[in-house]
Amino acid sequence: MRIKAEKRPNHYVCLSEQRSPHAGRLPESDVSRADGSVPVFVARGLTKIYGSGDAQVVALKDVDLDIRQGEFIVLLGPSGSGKSTLLNILGGLDAPTSGTATWRDHDLTGASDEALTTYRREHVGFVFQFYNLIPSLTVEENVRLVAQIATDPMTPGEALDLVGLSHRADRFPSQLSGGEQQRVAVARAIVKRPDILLCDEPTGALDVDTGRLVLAAIAKVNEELSTTTAVITHNSAIAGMANRVLRLSGGRIVREEPNLRRIGAYDVEW
Ligand SMILES: Nc1ncnc2c1ncn2[C@@H]1O[C@H](COP(=O)(O)OP(=O)(O)O)[C@@H](O)[C@H]1O
Ligand SMILES: [Mg+2]
Repeated sequence: MRIKAEKRPNHYVCLSEQRSPHAGRLPESDVSRADGSVPVFVARGLTKIYGSGDAQVVALKDVDLDIRQGEFIVLLGPSGSGKSTLLNILGGLDAPTSGTATWRDHDLTGASDEALTTYRREHVGFVFQFYNLIPSLTVEENVRLVAQIATDPMTPGEALDLVGLSHRADRFPSQLSGGEQQRVAVARAIVKRPDILLCDEPTGALDVDTGRLVLAAIAKVNEELSTTTAVITHNSAIAGMANRVLRLSGGRIVREEPNLRRIGAYDVEW
């Protein structure tokens, strides 16, 4: 089912309201809203341990998390707190040592490599700090490469339009600024109409103005396509854009805060 674009108000009910007994009785038409109560991701007791013996690192400790359809989540926390590990498990790139995670009816923790590959290909768009565009292909060709292996993609032109880069379609990555290259990476991540957009420090290498443009592109995708979105950042001001902010420390979610007054990308202070 393709979820139609839906404008949502800038204000959101707080978590306790979302979890009220009435929340479970939302009509079907409300299910795609960020203020609906349907969790699409459900993680329980996620623990990730790297290495063994003295070299053992506990990257995640007993993490429970629900993410609802269409939510915009921001993950904050110091370096090494487990943010990427958590995002990678949600994206089917990594498996926990113990615990369970599901996206709708997809088991992300006991699944075969093949099933995870299918899950990633059909449902997940990734954006990383470094753009990893193919330098010998034009912008349009970079985006088309992903569209070609997707089941119900938008056209590369539509994806580039969403990130405001239609006019750069015929350029090569080396002819673009860092921010433009990252927006191409966002277009490449969304051209397949992913259900989930996972962004690991997408503005980590960018200056203020280009960072805002990238964030605006991500927010637009979340808003217009109801794509469930998680963004890892070091910049706590970006948290203002979220529906909900998760703070990690030492492999745990130590705080979880609804954001009652969302700001736009252009209001983020660096
Ligand atoms: N592949 C790996 N092998 C060993 N240790 C790892 C690996 N990936 C991450 N870690 C460790 O797990 C912890 C959490 O890492 P990570 O999730 O990348 O944190 P963050 O994204 O918050 O900076 C860190 O101590 C990191 O060094
Ligand atoms: Mg990280």
